[in-house]
Amino acid sequence: MRLPSAYALTASLAFATLAVADSYDSDLVGTWSTKSNKTLTGPGFYNPVADEFIEPSRTGISYSFTSDGYYEEAYYRAIANPQNPACPSGIMQWQHGTYTIDNGSLLLTPFAVDGRQLLSSPCEYDNSIYTRYNQSETFKSYEVLTDAYHNIQRLNLFEFDGSPMNPMYLVYSPPEMLPTSTLNPTTSATAGATSTSSSKKRNMKRDGREVPLNFKMQKKGMDTMNPDRWWWIGLTLTGVGGLLYFGPRRMGLSI
Ligand SMILES: *[C@@H]1O[C@H](CO)[C@@H](O)[C@H](O)[C@H]1NC(C)=O
Ligand SMILES: *[C@@H]1O[C@H](CO)[C@@H](O)[C@H](O)[C@H]1NC(C)=O
Ligand SMILES: *[C@@H]1O[C@H](CO)[C@@H](O)[C@H](O)[C@H]1NC(C)=O
Repeated sequence: MRLPSAYALTASLAFATLAVADSYDSDLVGTWSTKSNKTLTGPGFYNPVADEFIEPSRTGISYSFTSDGYYEEAYYRAIANPQNPACPSGIMQWQHGTYTIDNGSLLLTPFAVDGRQLLSSPCEYDNSIYTRYNQSETFKSYEVLTDAYHNIQRLNLFEFDGSPMNPMYLVYSPPEMLPTSTLNPTTSATAGATSTSSSKKRNMKRDGREVPLNFKMQKKGMDTMNPDRWWWIGLTLTGVGGLLYFGPRRMGLSI
């Protein structure tokens, strides 16, 4: 039997709509945070107008997902300092961009020019290192379930090698996020390179707020896939302070 062409067209449109809708998962939508619930995506973590971080009161990780394929992430972690265990470094990272779901895997592609990282080693240096940050991520799988103990939605992400991340709990739905469009177009970010080095010297406020002293750096897919970041950490911890200001230019970073 031959279908009338109008019918065929309607059917293929319906199929296309279904295919698009299928690539997202309403269970993922919302703002998720690790247990401390103090590091959260949105304007409370990164201020894109002033182009600076706002240090949360506790370390943690947060991800937000929209129903139409956008994500945002906020990381605030302490890095153990073997030379001086009482004085860990702090690292803050922010990215946003688009995500897709492919055969159960979650693929995150950031807007490359928007991501930021702040590395602070207060005992070694007065100044923090503020750079661009651009790292795509693959989670091999994920699951959303109701946490029986807390009676709250819980997101388990599994890294590219299948190892689980710390569970995250639903904080807001719909999510709390900065605008999901590119915030720092390449042109203006590049122009900023010639301005001044003061952005590199920005102090990270540490007015007695908590960085856990016994924090053990966890091996994360993001870390192992980002040699630039290890370069920075290695440089900071080995104390080649005089090189810091040449770093960003040599790395091709314009911040
Ligand atoms: C997490 O913090 C947010 C904002 O302070 C609050 O609205 C929410 O109830 C908290 N969630 C949990 C599970 O504590
Ligand atoms: C889809 O995922 C399943 C389970 O992880 C895996 O066994 C299968 O090979 C994947 N299929 C494709 C096409 O990647
Ligand atoms: C951002 O990272 C991706 C890979 O993760 C790379 O392909 C891309 O060129 C990078 N973009 C910039 C502007 O650095």
